[in-house]
Amino acid sequence: MAEAEPKIRVTEEQIEFFCREGFLAIERITSDAEVERLRATYDELFARRAGREEGRQYDLAGTDEEDSVATLPQILEPRQYAAQLRDTLYEANGLAIAGQLLEGLAETLQDRVLSSEIVDFGLHAILKPAGIGSETPWHQDEAYWDPAKYFHGLSVWMPLQEATEENGCMCFIPGTHTGEVLSHHHAGDDPRIEALVVDDGHIDISKAVACPIPAGGATFHFCRTFHYTGPNRSVVPRRALALTCGLPQSTREVPRDFYWQGEKRTNAGKRREEAARRLTESEKS
Ligand code: NI
Repeated sequence: MAEAEPKIRVTEEQIEFFCREGFLAIERITSDAEVERLRATYDELFARRAGREEGRQYDLAGTDEEDSVATLPQILEPRQYAAQLRDTLYEANGLAIAGQLLEGLAETLQDRVLSSEIVDFGLHAILKPAGIGSETPWHQDEAYWDPAKYFHGLSVWMPLQEATEENGCMCFIPGTHTGEVLSHHHAGDDPRIEALVVDDGHIDISKAVACPIPAGGATFHFCRTFHYTGPNRSVVPRRALALTCGLPQSTREVPRDFYWQGEKRTNAGKRREEAARRLTESEKS
């Protein structure tokens, strides 16, 4: 299959908005036909629990036991389970626009920029089941990432149906992208839960801005912008894809202390370790 060519660009005003606020919403990033195709594949992957055994599908909001109902199931890198998710127009446009936005922001932040080449860091599929889908608590994406690296990255979040305040659209706190990564803890102070929450007192959620967008629209947010999505109170599943990308990562002289990462004891983590062990054993034999 030929690689999709980017067709959408953002304007100077939109780049300025992103640099000032740390996020941007656009009405369209791909075609209706692609949204429909992606939605069918997306539903099929969750229905057959793709990646579950190797710890790449898990419940972000719960303790993720085998027999529990997931209220925020997520698949890491779903492209490895479905060729239909590769080489999409969503991805091509997302990477091209990310290049525009990050170039603008590099000047604003006077950050370390090693190259203008945008690297694909990975794709997530995040589902909020109808009626029971959990909130994703306030966090910075970089709190999940390697404390020993510099990052200049963003996420391209695209809903596969309309995203509304009722079903869990993206919410951001403007201007929070220029600060450091602040301390986080596991949701419910339970290290079995993968979701991270920013510690009390760090942010003012009265300043939050909700970004409802149509199916096939997108929001962009920098890796330090505080964001949240509410629970799904609607009767349809809230499906979203998030592509993370950015400038090539470089190593810090002094790693940061993201101690909350060391506290993590998730069931998905155990499944990932077991899968890695099985792989090593099969390579030996
Ligand atoms: Ni996030």
